[in-house]
Amino acid sequence: MSQTTSAPVASPAGFSDVKGWFWPADQLLFDWFLKRQDRVPEQNGDLLELGAYLGKSAIFIGGYLRPGEKFTVCDLFDSPAPDDPNSAEMGRSYSTLTRRGFEANYLAFHEQLPTVVQAPTSVIGSRLDAGSCRFIHIDASHLYEHVHGDIVAARELAAPDAIVAFDDFRAEHCPGVAAAVWGAVATMELKLICITGTKAYGTWGDPEPARAELLDWLAPRTDLWHGVEEVAGAPLIRIDGKKAKAPTPPQPLRPVSETPKTAESPRTPEAAGEPGTSGPAAPGPAASVPAAAPRGLLARALGRRR
Ligand SMILES: C[S@@+](CC[C@H](N)C(=O)[O-])C[C@H]1O[C@@H](n2cnc3c(N)ncnc32)[C@H](O)[C@@H]1O
Repeated sequence: MSQTTSAPVASPAGFSDVKGWFWPADQLLFDWFLKRQDRVPEQNGDLLELGAYLGKSAIFIGGYLRPGEKFTVCDLFDSPAPDDPNSAEMGRSYSTLTRRGFEANYLAFHEQLPTVVQAPTSVIGSRLDAGSCRFIHIDASHLYEHVHGDIVAARELAAPDAIVAFDDFRAEHCPGVAAAVWGAVATMELKLICITGTKAYGTWGDPEPARAELLDWLAPRTDLWHGVEEVAGAPLIRIDGKKAKAPTPPQPLRPVSETPKTAESPRTPEAAGEPGTSGPAAPGPAASVPAAAPRGLLARALGRRR
């Protein structure tokens, strides 16, 4: 486990105070895929997230870490980006992000930090063992070259039947993610299992058992619409999660009044949990927003990413 950096910043009182882009339908699916791995004895391996921001999805994933496993997150945080387009993306979307902010949020929910790789995701293939990860969340740069590189690394790092989740695989503001994900389906034998409005879930293993069990799980649910469509020669489960009821959120380790008084963090829109112009693209950071808020309200509450 890596060490936290020096001065603390304010702790969140609850999961809804952690800003990020991790919506109820995807929380449900992360929960389903990760719990399913507990039921499949041969599904061993570590957890990996590329792109953590302030820890919303990392805090959630960290709750599924089993004894003896390692959780790694890779993010630039406040380090320079490796190229100009990535630098522009960082300036546009994550200008107030700090590693300390991530660490303070994570430690409000977990006793130990994950292994933090503060670097471009292009290093990740050389930091972890091939075939070591059972669950990988790809949510770092949304530019084609970077996402393609992340997918190449994920294929190398994926344990047999590992699940890989791809963020923003179809959004108008990041066509490069769509190109990289569908390109991997076409040329790298990636098999997609299901999609939500915001993420695609796939594997380089056998998709059939998970697909069949997922359909069984979806069948009685009234908060998740689903349908199946043949895409590129394989059935793809489409999930509409607009009415999704989020699973029980990760709980803070201690009430916020008991946490040591912390240094004031700057009251930027991000730190204050208010809509701002620096958050990533639509639909905007998920903080203090009712799970089932109508789209119009959500857009107004959160602001646009560009
Ligand atoms: C969309 S945010 C991640 C959101 C987070 N997973 C959540 O659900 O709240 C993308 C993150 O990727 C990081 N990032 C962007 N380009 C990167 C790169 N080339 N290497 C590593 N991290 C990068 C940014 O610093 C940012 O924290």
